[in-house]
Amino acid sequence: MQRVRTTKERAKRIDLMYFVQAHWLRQWRFWLAVAVPALALVWFFTLRVQGGETAFSSGSLSRAHAVFTEKCSLCHVQQPGGFFENVTDQGCLTCHDAPAHHTSQTFTPTCASCHVEHKRKRLLRATADQVCTQCHADLKTRGGKTEFATTVEGFDHDHPEFATLRAGGKDPGGIKLNHSVHLQANLLGPNHTRVQLTCDDCHRPAGVEELWPYSGAPIALAPVATSTDTLRPRHARAYMAPPKFASHCAGCHMLDFDARFGSEQVPHDKISVVHAFLIRRYSEYIGAHPGDVRQVALSTRRMPGRPCTPRASRNAAEWVQFRVEETEWILWLKTCKECHTLMQGGTLLQDKSCETPNAAEQPLPEIAKANITTRWLPHATFDHQAHRMMKCDACHTKAPTSRETADVLIPGIKLCQECHRSAGPSKDFAEGRCFECHQYHNWKDEKRVKGPYELHQLRSGIAAPPLQQ
Ligand code: HEC
Ligand code: HEC
Ligand code: HEC
Ligand code: HEC
Ligand code: HEC
Ligand code: HEC
Ligand code: HEC
Ligand code: HEC
Ligand code: HEC
Ligand code: HEC
Repeated sequence: MQRVRTTKERAKRIDLMYFVQAHWLRQWRFWLAVAVPALALVWFFTLRVQGGETAFSSGSLSRAHAVFTEKCSLCHVQQPGGFFENVTDQGCLTCHDAPAHHTSQTFTPTCASCHVEHKRKRLLRATADQVCTQCHADLKTRGGKTEFATTVEGFDHDHPEFATLRAGGKDPGGIKLNHSVHLQANLLGPNHTRVQLTCDDCHRPAGVEELWPYSGAPIALAPVATSTDTLRPRHARAYMAPPKFASHCAGCHMLDFDARFGSEQVPHDKISVVHAFLIRRYSEYIGAHPGDVRQVALSTRRMPGRPCTPRASRNAAEWVQFRVEETEWILWLKTCKECHTLMQGGTLLQDKSCETPNAAEQPLPEIAKANITTRWLPHATFDHQAHRMMKCDACHTKAPTSRETADVLIPGIKLCQECHRSAGPSKDFAEGRCFECHQYHNWKDEKRVKGPYELHQLRSGIAAPPLQQ
């Protein structure tokens, strides 16, 4: 049933004298209108007095820059007439040199668009993926061409397999090494011992000064050369030092050359140096044993291919020549060839030096470059030290069974994605944003910065509490 009310009855509900009596809320409105701006001004001036310009700040600065908080103008370059302008690259560049990415990039974003400030104690280098994908999701270059993948949206989304692991990738190394043979149990070690090699016997980061078990003497490694790199490794132990004959092979692979000289070895050096060494040693020998000139005995060592017909020498010079030729024949075709590829006149060294009557006039063979790669992923950074909790072959799964130098033993992207995902630590993964593995700046071109500021230009001291004496 509907209630019926007349207009008069309704009108009675309104107090016609409402403007005479002040309502409590209306009274407060007045005082609030006065007090709130007043309080804000008091708060603002207190901050101004205590902390200079921090009152205008939109949040505290990153760890590295916190010390400059009072000096806004270091970054917010003051323009005549205006108050604080936007941050300019110039402000940053007075303290940093941060060379741009690539000359082929179509535009250069501002420093501040990637290194976001006033977000509390954040790491500035931890940039968002968007700053990279603004270009890399659909990569355009100035020249119109690029050898790199053009659509990368995230580490778990459209990131290409690493270049060396794509089809046809080969290890360009010139040293023959069969990992499987060397990692077998009971390998013949020095002095007829039986040993079990580990990765650590041949691979350690540069700069680790520990004894190498299969070298003659303790040998400190030279640091991995990075002068041609555009990247700066974050850690001295990031990469493995390339193996060296003297520190990793010499203990088991002898370079002895003739029983006449006992266990003496030829120097592990250029062919010409070995050649000169042999001439000197045989000359010294025949000087001390002139009666041996008429001896025709060949070295007792097993030789590859057909043995040379022993040749009788008529004088000391000829004796030295014949002995050097025979010894080199064994060295080049057996000793050195075990690990190296030898070339002569542009072709593989053939086993026919004995048939050649004028062997002495043949050019000395050349040894192919060792060419051991120290940076497999030159367009990314990697750090073994950060992964020291893992066994070597947990990543290099193919190493223990690899028989050829040409095999690529570097892990592929699937393995990294087990731990690294774009979502990162918040979803219980390792960091997977671009900056973790890539550099934006071409640090090779970084110039030294000569600081222009006086202390008082960096610190005003306003907010500093008195020091305890
Ligand atoms: C180490 C450099 C640096 C210093 C010092 C610095 N700022 Fe900033 N500030 C930035 C960067 C970078 C941005 C973001 C870039 C932009 O928007 O131009 C920014 C942005 C701002 C903004 C815009 C709001 C926003 O979040 O976009 C304000 C307001 C501001 N700063 C105030 C201050 C004040 C006030 C000070 C001094 C107390 C100060 N800043 C000191 C680097 C700095
Ligand atoms: C008054 C000098 C000064 C100015 C101006 C300055 N910085 Fe810095 N910045 C430093 C110092 C000092 C460090 C810490 C030492 C270091 O790592 O080189 C640092 C560190 C950094 C780092 C590495 C630290 C991190 O958290 O990742 C980045 C990135 C950086 N600055 C970017 C910038 C950018 C972008 C600007 C301009 C908005 C800027 N800086 C302005 C002095 C300055
Ligand atoms: C302004 C556009 C632009 C931005 C932003 C940009 N890149 Fe690039 N990037 C390029 C261009 C252009 C190339 C070079 C292509 C060429 O010359 O073939 C390139 C090349 C690369 C390469 C391969 C070559 C190398 O330098 O090793 C990587 C990796 C890379 N960028 C990562 C990044 C990361 C990570 C970020 C974000 C921090 C980023 N890029 C931001 C344009 C950009
Ligand atoms: C007897 C010494 C020796 C031992 C032991 C050894 N390596 Fe190597 N390794 C070498 C030499 C020499 C090279 C360079 C020649 C080549 O590229 O194959 C090399 C190359 C490599 C490379 C880079 C070459 C590529 O093709 O990817 C990786 C990765 C590697 N080794 C991992 C391992 C791991 C993992 C172990 C242990 C399971 C191991 N190595 C044990 C001597 C050794
Ligand atoms: C612990 C002793 C030991 C060390 C150290 C060692 N080797 Fe060997 N290597 C051997 C033995 C033993 C053989 C013969 C294995 C066989 O035929 O079963 C061999 C065989 C080889 C072969 C012939 C492989 C094949 O496929 O038959 C090459 C090439 C070689 N080593 C290279 C190297 C290089 C390069 C290094 C140093 C980076 C090295 N070795 C370090 C013990 C060693
Ligand atoms: C057991 C394996 C092994 C044997 C045998 C061996 N080498 Fe090597 N050789 C290496 C390794 C490993 C390297 C690369 C690292 C280094 O320089 O020690 C190398 C590098 C070289 C280089 C430098 C190549 C370059 O990149 O320019 C020369 C020259 C050389 N060896 C000469 C010889 C000569 C001559 C012999 C024979 C007398 C010989 N080697 C025997 C393992 C061997
Ligand atoms: C967990 C490490 C990791 C992360 C995170 C990562 N990358 Fe890579 N990226 C690599 C490695 C390793 C390579 C291979 C480098 C090489 O072949 O020299 C590579 C290669 C590239 C290349 C060159 C591809 C080519 O054609 O050879 C580009 C471009 C690239 N990354 C962009 C990005 C961008 C953009 C992000 C962020 C969205 C990113 N990457 C995140 C490790 C990473
Ligand atoms: C998390 C996976 C991972 C683990 C664990 C790992 N590696 Fe690597 N290793 C790599 C990657 C990725 C590269 C390629 C780095 C580059 O050259 O850019 C590499 C490269 C190498 C190389 C070639 C030289 C170099 O530094 O680039 C050798 C040798 C090597 N690793 C040996 C080892 C040994 C020995 C261990 C154990 C102590 C080991 N690795 C553990 C991933 C791993
Ligand atoms: C078992 C998990 C695991 C695997 C697999 C793994 N990583 Fe990592 N990685 C980590 C952890 C943990 C860190 C340290 C994270 C940190 O400091 O925030 C790290 C750090 C890194 C860093 C930064 C190193 C630095 O501090 O400069 C790079 C680059 C990297 N990983 C690349 C790779 C690549 C490339 C692969 C694949 C070949 C790989 N990781 C595989 C767990 C892993
Ligand atoms: C497209 C995004 C981007 C732009 C634009 C950019 N940076 Fe960076 N910056 C990065 C990334 C990612 C890193 C970390 C990787 C590296 O070292 O390249 C970095 C690293 C740095 C570092 C070294 C941090 C450390 O670890 O020591 C400094 C300093 C720096 N940037 C300053 C600048 C300055 C100054 C500008 C402007 C001229 C600038 N950046 C522009 C993305 C950017």
